[in-house]
Amino acid sequence: MGSVNLARKWIREAAVVTALTGAGISAESGIPTFRGPGGLWKQFRPEDLATPEAFARDPKLVWEWYDWRRTLIAAAEPNAGHAALVQLERARPSFTLITQNVDGLHERAGTRNVVKLHGDLWTLRCTVCHRERRDERTPLPELPPRCECGAPMRPGVVWFGETLPPDAWERAEAATRAANVFLVVGTSAVVYPAAGLIPLAKSSGARVIECNMEETPFSAQVDRAFRGAAGELLPQLVAS
Ligand code: OAD
Repeated sequence: MGSVNLARKWIREAAVVTALTGAGISAESGIPTFRGPGGLWKQFRPEDLATPEAFARDPKLVWEWYDWRRTLIAAAEPNAGHAALVQLERARPSFTLITQNVDGLHERAGTRNVVKLHGDLWTLRCTVCHRERRDERTPLPELPPRCECGAPMRPGVVWFGETLPPDAWERAEAATRAANVFLVVGTSAVVYPAAGLIPLAKSSGARVIECNMEETPFSAQVDRAFRGAAGELLPQLVAS
């Protein structure tokens, strides 16, 4: 049996399927990834834009960058990779999608059970009263946007040096431990704790399947590593 056929069989027969996605799944929608060719961290320094210190230093600069990304993403559409994961959720009795992405494309495609490890670009959080608000306007009329209480708001994402939302992390760990098949899609798997879910899935007994354009630190340890674009690989893997 060919590699794709075997992986497809594992997926079809799994009671519990969990997927972990990263920026690579949105690349075919025209959204830049962080690392690799054309990656955001080739052009910008994370310590200038994606840390609490950067925001304290220059909130307007940080917001301009997030506003630019929001505008780019608002104009993008989910791709065949996102759609294949929607199909998978509908076909499997238990499915959890853990994502490091903040773009909201999985939800826009139609996936329901999404765990957002790094937050959401479309949520704003008050820096003082911590109230949250969903705001999809692009561009935002005022930078930084203001809370009803008058204080500046920040993007509702996780920055370097911050801890992940505890409820999201608990759900991610539980879905990883329970998985019969764990799909890893479009992540360089170098940012922790998210990347730690891959060895956790393996040690919990899941068959781990990787889909990525390039090799990752876990490629040699997974059960199957497919090289290619998520938008081409995933539809083949979830086809019934
Ligand atoms: P990266 O940019 O680090 O990695 C993207 C991965 O996707 C790479 O391994 C690429 O080879 C792969 N890739 C690119 N195009 C692809 C395609 N069409 N199909 C399949 N794979 C493709 O993105 P993440 O791993 O998501 O965190 O990065 C993790 C975290 O680092 C992000 O959530 C963000 C970033 O800094 C924070 O901002 C806290």
